[in-house]
Amino acid sequence: MNELLVQQITALANDSDKLSFICNVTAAIYQSTERINWAGFYFYKQGMLRLGPFQGKVACTEIPLGKGVCGTAFEKKMLLNIIDVHRFAGHIACDPDSNSEIVVPLIYNGKRMGVLDIDSPEYRRFDSDDEETFEEIAKIVSKKLAD
Ligand code: SME
Repeated sequence: MNELLVQQITALANDSDKLSFICNVTAAIYQSTERINWAGFYFYKQGMLRLGPFQGKVACTEIPLGKGVCGTAFEKKMLLNIIDVHRFAGHIACDPDSNSEIVVPLIYNGKRMGVLDIDSPEYRRFDSDDEETFEEIAKIVSKKLAD
């Protein structure tokens, strides 16, 4: 796990404003993670996932539940680490440079709030260490949003 990044995000969670905090979370992830081209959030609103703060290229703003990697991770309430997005049926291509993707649902006390999504131009970019790091970050963010 990237302890330094998790510590930084834990410190950022002292912010009194939730939006400022999650904006800084995307910047911290983007600055400290090598070989990625997109990092950000989609939040559950009015029956679908809506684009939240992010770093990277302009992205699609709405994702129906159960669609794409994000909508599937949200619906199944499970982390998805996709080594080759072109082999994922229904993958939504926002940035054509993305080749692998990790999505972690934001869940607090059983309530689903959205997803953390990170993309990479490299195939098989994310390993179990990254999974641990992003799961921990998703926990910190979910707790802060639920406060
Ligand atoms: N690829 C995602 C869509 C969001 S972008 O990667 C920023 C998906 O299939 O859900």
